[in-house]
Amino acid sequence: MTSDVAIETKELTKRYGTLTALDGLSLSVKEGEVYGILGPNGAGKSTLIRITCGLLNPSGGTVLVRGIDVRERPEEVKALIGYLPEETSLYEHMTVLEYLTFFADLYGLGREEGGKRAHKLVERLDLGDKRTERIGTLSKGLKRRVAIARALIHDPSILILDEPTSGLDPVASLDIRELIASLATEEGKTVLLSTHLVWMAEQLCHRIGILSKGKLLLSGTTDEVCGRLDARQTSVEVVVESHPGTKMPHATDAKVERKGRVCVLTFPGVELAVKALEKLRLSHPVVSITTAQRSLEDVFLERFSRSEEGRD
Ligand SMILES: Nc1ncnc2c1ncn2[C@@H]1O[C@H](COP(=O)(O)OP(=O)(O)OP(=O)(O)O)[C@@H](O)[C@H]1O
Ligand SMILES: [Mg+2]
Repeated sequence: MTSDVAIETKELTKRYGTLTALDGLSLSVKEGEVYGILGPNGAGKSTLIRITCGLLNPSGGTVLVRGIDVRERPEEVKALIGYLPEETSLYEHMTVLEYLTFFADLYGLGREEGGKRAHKLVERLDLGDKRTERIGTLSKGLKRRVAIARALIHDPSILILDEPTSGLDPVASLDIRELIASLATEEGKTVLLSTHLVWMAEQLCHRIGILSKGKLLLSGTTDEVCGRLDARQTSVEVVVESHPGTKMPHATDAKVERKGRVCVLTFPGVELAVKALEKLRLSHPVVSITTAQRSLEDVFLERFSRSEEGRD
């Protein structure tokens, strides 16, 4: 029987001394999906990723990659996955092709096969005109591409990417996001990535897990997570005249604030605002009406982005 689960963590715990970095974390990544671990700094994203790749031992719990226990058979798991570390140390004196063929060799691909694979990746990742340049001379964005090429050298079907766009300018970041999306859609790769950027998770991932202080607070499709957090809700801001000393406007469903000679009423939805406006405008002239879409980003900032420091 084939399973549609590519990666499964069960009750994963990691302690660094007295600090609990992962606290009983269970999640699963399905075959063919892009799953985003979204969490603020220090949430435990890199810890989770490094344990999943077999680079760090958990204090408790298990990780199965295609049903293989990472602790029992790490080499088999490493053959299945391509890992992009948060920070890559590339061998700066090597050229792009030398570097990739070197790693092909480490994976035992053989000279001919390794060479073919390196050339193919150089083309696939648009590094063709840089193939004979030393890595040390490349921009950050291109270095990140080289690091992704290295993660792909043995043609793994699962990619595990730790903050793939960190430190990149908007153009280089878009490049990498498009690359990840096409690796998933065109080549059927399963992707587990970590990010602290809400919009990136929202844009790129089929499913999202929200990690905070080592615990998974929410997990589901991007739409489910947005729904559970009341994100993507439209709020309506109505500004009415209301001179100091006069009666403040009243609306049951709105938050009302006085701002000098006007009052601002914020409604949590269009319907409620329209209903209240009928009455409201009879007593208070309306100055402006604006709508705003709350994104997952707004909600995330409100709820989860408090410093992760001071955890116990
Ligand atoms: N080797 C270590 N020794 C001690 N504490 C560690 C170690 N590695 C990580 N930690 C701590 O564990 C917690 C989780 O760290 P981790 O790097 O997994 O978080 P993260 O979500 O990847 O953060 P960031 O967004 O900054 O990359 C943090 O409080 C961190 O300081
Ligand atoms: Mg990290």
